[in-house]
Amino acid sequence: MSGVICQDWQDRKPKMKKDLISIKDLSIEEIEEIFLLTDKLKENKQKYSQSLKGKTIALIFQKPSNRTRVSFAVGMFQLGGLSIYLGPNEISLGIRETTRDVAMTLSRYVDGIVLRTFEHKNIIELAKYSKVPVINGLSDLLHPCQALSDLYTLREKWGFLKGKILSFIGDGNNVTHSLLYGCSKVGLNLNIATPKKFQPNKEIVSEAVRFAASSGAKINLSNDPLKACKDADALYTDVWTSMGQEKESAMRRKVFKNFQLNKKLVSQAKRDCLIMHCLPAHRQEEITDEVMDSENSIIFDQAENRLHVQKSILLKLLGEK
Ligand code: CP
Ligand code: NVA
Repeated sequence: MSGVICQDWQDRKPKMKKDLISIKDLSIEEIEEIFLLTDKLKENKQKYSQSLKGKTIALIFQKPSNRTRVSFAVGMFQLGGLSIYLGPNEISLGIRETTRDVAMTLSRYVDGIVLRTFEHKNIIELAKYSKVPVINGLSDLLHPCQALSDLYTLREKWGFLKGKILSFIGDGNNVTHSLLYGCSKVGLNLNIATPKKFQPNKEIVSEAVRFAASSGAKINLSNDPLKACKDADALYTDVWTSMGQEKESAMRRKVFKNFQLNKKLVSQAKRDCLIMHCLPAHRQEEITDEVMDSENSIIFDQAENRLHVQKSILLKLLGEK
């Protein structure tokens, strides 16, 4: 009898809320679990069609979005749940009311919150006061859902990641930071070439180097795009002007001129080198049409996998009782 009572208590004991704020917080086992569940979700979509029945997520977006917004909304629908989009004019996070009060109110209504914001500290603050899982849908610092989908896409193409070389050419910004965490965790070698003033965050690089020591990944930073592309298995770029930096776009076009992903850079890489971009792309700026639309481009597979990987993340965070 006491055993039953104990079991009952165990079942009702509140579980710790899990968030997805940074790949830094994920173990290699957790990353692999997300990927294995993504495989299953892709193989048998129908099987999971009611997995989040009766559950709701709020999508708080302070910046524009195509892929992140649509893939979370469609993903939630395909899992039997509901999503509510809250654009910049609805919630006005931190302006109409504090982030803390938004977190505490939404926690009474929804089962998870996706936040796309400017300052990364907004996500930390929201997660601190939210009683439901918070997912980082991009901040100025990180874009973990993107990098997880990118690694999943490469794993799907190659069958494995360890020992391959990914070269990122462009701005050492949010996408680069999440790739640093992701590659260093899974053992994928990462070359990064940026202009001197646009190198990735030093603290994140140090942490990635520490993770790489365990996984065996090699992390190389330089300001030489040609060198960085040498023998790469995949080449990746992102916009030169990220959301919120629009006033700097003329200056950035000049500084990044030699960092365009074009035929010359691709010729340095392996013959079957894959071409990647998180999108949106500014065609003919950071990437030429020729490269973007080439046979080896997996850019739209990356975009598609945002849907499947995020369904897996939603199930991991919201689905398990
Ligand atoms: N890659 C990405 O996050 O795209 P959106 O900005 O359109 O969501
Ligand atoms: N670095 C880009 C990524 C867009 C998905 C931005 O922040 O605008």
